[in-house]
Amino acid sequence: STRTKVVDALVSTDYGKEITVKGWVRSHRSSKAVDFIALNDGSTIKNIQVVVDPAKMNEEDLKSITTGACIRATGLLVESQGKGQTCEVQAEEIEIYGLCPSDYPMQKKGQSFEYMRQYAHMRLRTNTFGAVFRIRHNMAIAIHKYFHEHGFYYFNSPLITASDCEGAGEMFQVTTLDLDRVAKSGKVEYDKDFFGKKTNLTVSGQLEGELGATALGAIYTFGPTFRAENSNTPRHLAEFWMIEPEVAFMDKKELMDLEEDFIKYCVQWALDNCKDDLAFLNQMIDKSLLQTLESVVKEDFVRLTYTEGIEILQQAVKDGHKFEFPISGWGMDLASEHERYLVEEHFKRPVIMTDYPAEIKSFYMKKNPDGKTMQGTDVLFPRIGEIIGGSVREESYEKLMSEIERRGMREQTYDWYLDTRKYGSCPHAGFGLGFERLILFVTGMQNIRDVIPFPRTPKNAEF
Ligand code: 4AD
Ligand code: MG
Repeated sequence: STRTKVVDALVSTDYGKEITVKGWVRSHRSSKAVDFIALNDGSTIKNIQVVVDPAKMNEEDLKSITTGACIRATGLLVESQGKGQTCEVQAEEIEIYGLCPSDYPMQKKGQSFEYMRQYAHMRLRTNTFGAVFRIRHNMAIAIHKYFHEHGFYYFNSPLITASDCEGAGEMFQVTTLDLDRVAKSGKVEYDKDFFGKKTNLTVSGQLEGELGATALGAIYTFGPTFRAENSNTPRHLAEFWMIEPEVAFMDKKELMDLEEDFIKYCVQWALDNCKDDLAFLNQMIDKSLLQTLESVVKEDFVRLTYTEGIEILQQAVKDGHKFEFPISGWGMDLASEHERYLVEEHFKRPVIMTDYPAEIKSFYMKKNPDGKTMQGTDVLFPRIGEIIGGSVREESYEKLMSEIERRGMREQTYDWYLDTRKYGSCPHAGFGLGFERLILFVTGMQNIRDVIPFPRTPKNAEF
């Protein structure tokens, strides 16, 4: 018969009918009278139980079906006597597709995430990573759905670019192979640049996104971005995915409303569509996960200025709170421990922090009339710290130009970008959400390397 996915088989009530399930063995228990095989095909966190009568199968073959092996089982779907499952398959026929030798790195249960990271190509077959990557898929769907329903166009920005959106110089250079030299030396040799031009992998699609927004009204990008920062933290990747909406005629209040509404929509989507996986993670990873997700959807985010935030942090120091990085006062950049103090200990809710000192933020942000602060709107989350970085954009050609000059960014050409301000400039705003940081929050996982299938970090790019 044709294959039934495990997710469908488990809710089927066609008892007495023959079905075929295919998948990977999660466990195999034998007794004299009967064998139990737990089978998983990736369609759900749950396994289906395949019951085998050892008298009906070659003993050696049955014994060879170990954890990790891939099989087909055909037999009757019957109501199950076992706890925690409604039905099972009474196997009439088992076909072995692929045996799994005992050096299978995912054989043992309960391995540490650190151990499993060494086998990023194999860890996908474990319960936890199955749950994480099904949720990751669902979040991507939620994101596209949200923007589509709100009239945003999906807009693709280039990955190879000559500009540095964040102006931090944290870029990977893109070079071509020098074919002449390769032909002569027989060795792989690179040019210094990309067909004679200095280019790098994009750190953000925002600048191109602004061009889209000032033509189409509202757009969002959703793609990989790259940062050559040498930071080994549980929240930084060298290659991560970013969602960057950009909207013409949007002001700071509307931008904050969008940030909050969008995140809540995504979290609610997970609660509605990833119930089994979240229940599993709630049990295995973080016992307060579901409660945290539910409260984020319900509660208003706190909105406070950077200046107010600094005052709270200074008060915390007076009250005896110890930070690893000192609170040096107004103008300092906040470290993740400071952001987390505000959201986890002071407010116990997500915070949208606004109006940062100009000096610690990017060149494109709109300055306030005080000349000192900028209309940035970062969203800070419990466990994560900064999950969104956003701002109203400077729409004045002159002001933007002088900021680019003041920062010594003239080496790269931003003329194409400045044309948005030169020709029919308009007020606009946007933000960037780190996709993996959202997945971290929704899954309760602790390390960003464990929410992307193949993490790229300074010490990790083998495959
Ligand atoms: O704050 P960032 O650097 O802002 C921008 O790139 C803007 N151009 C976005 C915009 O306004 N369109 O990055 C945005 C978000 C951060 O809040 C964080 O969630 C994530 O991207 N992020 C990273 N995630 C993983 N690894 C890294 N190295 C990250 N750097 C930033
Ligand atoms: Mg930022």
